[in-house]
Amino acid sequence: MCLYWGSGLTFVTLDEKDLIPGRGARDESGKQPTLQEMSNFRATPGMFGAGYLEMLARQMTAELRAIRDQIAPGQTAALRAKGVYFGELSRRADGAWDVSKVEGLGALSLGTNGQEGPSLLIRPWHQAGAVVSLREFTNNAYNHHHGIQSVERFGEGVDADGDGFVNELTKDDVTAATLFQAVMAAPGRVIPNVPEVEAAVLRGEKLFETAGCASCHTPSLLLSYGGHQFTEPNPYNPAGNATPADTPVVTVDLNSALLPLPRLRLEPFSGTVAVPAYTDMKLHNMCGGAGAPG
Ligand code: HEC
Repeated sequence: MCLYWGSGLTFVTLDEKDLIPGRGARDESGKQPTLQEMSNFRATPGMFGAGYLEMLARQMTAELRAIRDQIAPGQTAALRAKGVYFGELSRRADGAWDVSKVEGLGALSLGTNGQEGPSLLIRPWHQAGAVVSLREFTNNAYNHHHGIQSVERFGEGVDADGDGFVNELTKDDVTAATLFQAVMAAPGRVIPNVPEVEAAVLRGEKLFETAGCASCHTPSLLLSYGGHQFTEPNPYNPAGNATPADTPVVTVDLNSALLPLPRLRLEPFSGTVAVPAYTDMKLHNMCGGAGAPG
């Protein structure tokens, strides 16, 4: 049995007398929805190369925090991680933080608590940048989609959904399921050996830049030294997910030839890995029309 069926939504009735939010009566704008409008489709996102993406996010969080930690009261600093600009972070003279000019991070990462600065945590998974790690996603999905409750999320010996089973998923189970996802092959680009097609692809690549697409879809971000060593669990995991303090840390070399191929290339001298993921890891407002904040 699931605790949260379909992420907490019951099936629609489209009955105007049904006042249960999200089920019948009204949509967000107060209108009676029709069957055609009541939902939209969600495509499952690709998961290839996921380990490299999570490591990029971890390194970028560390870079943003290093800048944050240097900001004294009365100062402002530009936030940059791997060359991507995240706006400006300021502190007023009394030490209070001002996040109004930070861009590309969701509200979850911008909360400030008096003298405590924003977490600036990059959350690379789920819609609208809500999930920190493959592990957090895994704990969510086992519960939401399979009705299986992990010990690290729901507690030892707790039968949270009353199905007669306890300890349905151990920390080690979650580590294994997470690592399986993290080590998936990184997709490559195969250009057919046909001159016309090759020329068209290369022209398309240029147009992608000149049209401005690459300003958000950054063609490549660089994992710095050590970044190909994926460690599980993620040190930034929120409560309800194991952290390195409470379960053994497992390290996997994402560039090992023993893993499913293809892998990305490790630069032999610098130890860096270029990750051609066409993302800047930022959130963008795509709904505001012309003039919307990028
Ligand atoms: C202002 C930043 C921005 C610009 C500029 C931009 N994109 Fe995007 N693009 C996004 C974001 C954000 C998403 C993800 C939207 C979502 O899933 O809600 C996206 C999604 C996509 C996707 C779907 C990717 C997937 O995995 O589902 C494609 C394809 C795409 N963009 C192509 C383009 C092209 C082509 C251009 C240039 C004409 C472009 N984008 C310009 C931000 C941008």
